[in-house]
Amino acid sequence: MKGLILSGGQGTRLRPITHTSAKQLVPIANRPILFYVIDDLAAAGIRDVGIVISPETGEDIRAAVGDGSAFGVSVTWIVQPEPKGLAHAVLCARPFLGDDSFAMYLGDNMLEQHLEPFLVGFPGADQLDPTGPVVNARILLAHVADPTSFGVAELGADGEVLRLVEKPSDPPSDLALVGVYLFDSSIHPAIDRLVPSARGELEITDAIQQMIDSGCRVDHQVVSGWWIDTGKKDPLLECNRLVLNRLEKRIDGEVDAASTIGDRVVVEAGAQVINSVVEGPAVIGPDSLISDAQLGPYCSVGAGSRIERSRVENSVLLAGVTVVNVGHLTDSLIGRNSEISGDGSTTGRFRILIGDTCQVDVSEAEHG
Ligand code: DAU
Repeated sequence: MKGLILSGGQGTRLRPITHTSAKQLVPIANRPILFYVIDDLAAAGIRDVGIVISPETGEDIRAAVGDGSAFGVSVTWIVQPEPKGLAHAVLCARPFLGDDSFAMYLGDNMLEQHLEPFLVGFPGADQLDPTGPVVNARILLAHVADPTSFGVAELGADGEVLRLVEKPSDPPSDLALVGVYLFDSSIHPAIDRLVPSARGELEITDAIQQMIDSGCRVDHQVVSGWWIDTGKKDPLLECNRLVLNRLEKRIDGEVDAASTIGDRVVVEAGAQVINSVVEGPAVIGPDSLISDAQLGPYCSVGAGSRIERSRVENSVLLAGVTVVNVGHLTDSLIGRNSEISGDGSTTGRFRILIGDTCQVDVSEAEHG
């Protein structure tokens, strides 16, 4: 069985971060989301992995992943010239996939549950019971509060998948399609029959519906544990919290005697914590400086960042970020090498979503 990771697309819902970098490289607990996806495929024994990239952000992704050997996989790069949909990405990957079964994983999805149990009983991934039914596709579903921004499944009385619909305004159930799918080669003729959806994309959801309509067997499993589509800021921060919760305390950098470090805090090598309070879970990247500050809970601070005379909570700071004298920053996502500074006059908490190399002044405006 092969793996196919979809890391193209435009990432419009995470702009402006995604103006200058790929959303699949946005870090969760200081590691790109995509790395967790590759880890999950590798842990399931899938070594032959295709990664779909866009012409705009593909080079950054290639540079970050390398040849895959760091993850124990071999990577084939597949450039999708335009983001014409998930099924179009599979079409672009056809020379890599051939007639093999494959696990498709959206490069911005994260699951608490591992992929491996999901493969049990799927052709190409498992020793099959010859008397059992042939399965052509397997989808993973999750109960969600608002299904309108996902693909949604309608199940029959016996749990069979009756119908799938992409981002319905009137959802037939609360069961969203999680971004992990298993397919055999019958997905390809189904994609050949597709026409673009209302949003102009070849939808994988419609391709699976085509499979159902042509008599293929599509089964499903409901996820246990959390699942997050990290494509927007708040789910991304939630994902960061969930992953930080797994941290074990590790101090490789320097912490002075005036500082307090809580549980589940990682201070990477070369980082310095001076006269500060760090409440876990939190990770402080290599060569960062935390000085006269209060950090956490739930902060990921990228390498080479500097936080001084400020309080930062529930936020993801990419590499090289400076936060100086700004009061209380919370629920924020700050792009690489951006600088937020103030004169210490702000009261109350504030939140910010900015891209790379931005400068923000958060001083209180004068009246009059
Ligand atoms: O997250 C689960 C949802 O993912 C499913 O419930 C939906 O049925 C499915 O269509 C998909 O919806 P999204 O609107 O969230 O997909 P998005 O455009 O965010 O793309 C998902 C990933 O695929 C992302 O890593 C970018 C990549 N992609 C996307 C497109 C449109 C490509 O590689 N090529 C593309 O053309």
